[in-house]
Amino acid sequence: MDKMIYLDNGATSFPKPEAVYKYMDHFYRNYGVNPGRSGYDLCIESGEVVENTRKQLTKFFNGTDPDRLCFSYNSTDSLNLVINGILEKGDHAVTTNVEHNSVLRPLYHQSKYNGVEVDYISADSKGFVNPDDFPKKFKKNTKLVIVNHASNVIGTIQPIKEIGKYCREKGILFAVDASQSSGKIPVDMEEQNIDIVVFTGHKSLLGPTGIGGLYVREGVEIRHTRAGGTGVRSAVKTHLFEYPFRLEYGTLNSVGVAGLYKGVEWVEEKGIHNIHEHEMKLTTMLRDGLKDTEGVTLYCQDDLTDHIGIFLFNVAGFESLNVGTLLDVDYNIACRTGLHCAPLIHVHIGTADIHGAVRLGVGPFNTEADVKTTIDAVKEIALMKQK
Ligand SMILES: Cc1ncc(COP(=O)(O)O)c(C=O)c1O
Repeated sequence: MDKMIYLDNGATSFPKPEAVYKYMDHFYRNYGVNPGRSGYDLCIESGEVVENTRKQLTKFFNGTDPDRLCFSYNSTDSLNLVINGILEKGDHAVTTNVEHNSVLRPLYHQSKYNGVEVDYISADSKGFVNPDDFPKKFKKNTKLVIVNHASNVIGTIQPIKEIGKYCREKGILFAVDASQSSGKIPVDMEEQNIDIVVFTGHKSLLGPTGIGGLYVREGVEIRHTRAGGTGVRSAVKTHLFEYPFRLEYGTLNSVGVAGLYKGVEWVEEKGIHNIHEHEMKLTTMLRDGLKDTEGVTLYCQDDLTDHIGIFLFNVAGFESLNVGTLLDVDYNIACRTGLHCAPLIHVHIGTADIHGAVRLGVGPFNTEADVKTTIDAVKEIALMKQK
């Protein structure tokens, strides 16, 4: 069978740029010691890679202080640090129904066990939230607003700059889940009024799994909800107060940091705009190729302005899971089916009761040929039930 067509870049990007693999191998063989823990040369050199990556990502998100760029394992880890380190009993938070479970579940937990009240802003029929809906929900005790920048289900990009402006006016912390957006569209702390940005390394930043992080604007306080080794000031009995140590616990995934460095470098060399343009060209091809196909339903793809390359559909008469299996087994096309860890948006678009939908996630290494083959495959599957 032909080479696999990978259209599951919403789950994780694959493959990575060659430089990521090469540098991770080089770094781990030559500098794979514990960064920042001792004073011998290798330790210092390994620590420099970590610090350079902090600087690189701080610049990438237009932050001001690399010490406020903290590494974690992934977005889920960062979002738990943010939500659990900001909200306290009696607080109120506002979020949306576009969120991933890495936001929803920590918030449900806070509601259930900590008495935190949460309001959910609903997207419209096209998958966009209206920024003007946010201040209507604000209360005296609203402490945090948290919004998914780009949806991993329908691809819509939310108007975070405007939402952030409302939050800033009221002194409410504004956190952005940039898991799907960073590396595809600009994420700018200053321009978009963001207080905390959360990212994961393995998606559109093109790094490996197991590395992620967050940038915390100056003046924003997140309590540490864990404690442990930091490599410095070991005699102090509490976890260190200063960033980045405040939100970093134990040995860092330094080889992950190294891979992420090269992933971000690749994104910068290619240019975010060019990557996005390429992915949207392919997504538009998918949309145009499938929109009038009998038996194929597309979700939120009529107008692809303010979208990333995430494409959602169903085929009449099939469970999404079965379409995914057919694409895999008969056509060697990798995609993701089901609810995509974001159940509320599936309720909103009417796909929760039919066990979700099929998601194609376009990446920088996909080609027009990949898309043409995929359109033909979906059309053939759609015909199967009609015969
Ligand atoms: C929008 C969004 N937020 C958060 C996450 C969680 O990312 P990770 O699994 O890397 O923690 C994902 C992953 O699919 C996502 O798409």
